[in-house]
Amino acid sequence: MSKGQVVDVQPIIDFLGSKTPQAWIDCALENQETLLVDHANCEKKAASTALNLMYRYVEFPQLLQKLSRLAREELRHFEQVHAIMRKRNIDYPQLNASRYAGGLRDQVSKQEPMRLVDTLIVGAIIEARSCERFAALAPHLDDELKDFYSSLLKSESRHFMDYLALAKQVADEAVVARRTDELLRIENALIADPDPEFRFHSGVPIAA
Ligand SMILES: [Fe+2]
Ligand SMILES: [Fe+2]
Repeated sequence: MSKGQVVDVQPIIDFLGSKTPQAWIDCALENQETLLVDHANCEKKAASTALNLMYRYVEFPQLLQKLSRLAREELRHFEQVHAIMRKRNIDYPQLNASRYAGGLRDQVSKQEPMRLVDTLIVGAIIEARSCERFAALAPHLDDELKDFYSSLLKSESRHFMDYLALAKQVADEAVVARRTDELLRIENALIADPDPEFRFHSGVPIAA
């Protein structure tokens, strides 16, 4: 019995407005080593994004508290993925990032305060999609990975809610709702459009 199963992912799917395509799940199951390597990179990236925000926005105490905890948890997740990789003798090659995070980051306003609002919403979206993908993959994985991915659901869904709550502290709810809709439209396309490269957040795989 996995502890992560207590998390209801339906509200997260409702927020995202789309589920991971079956073709991506099939591809992930066939490419579990790449999945783990890219997952490890995503955890490092999530920690470093949170740290960057902590350097840039010292005037927001809530942000500093929430993101400091988040960064610690992401590094802990990195250690857990990395330990599984080492146990399974999986090489750790340099892997370029998927188009996903960059595609969302390109949409972030260059001017404050919207730069911060957009960055927080993008953070919420990435956490939500990660959570949705962990839940989609978990039932198909071996016991060790199933337990691990199920255990990640809880923290990633909290990260999603923390990022969204921080965005609502910085901007009106209506502004956050409008930007969330706009950014989710881009996100849904990145997930649904054909993607030549398989990664944790890639789109629909193009058959080789
Ligand atoms: Fe994480
Ligand atoms: Fe996270």
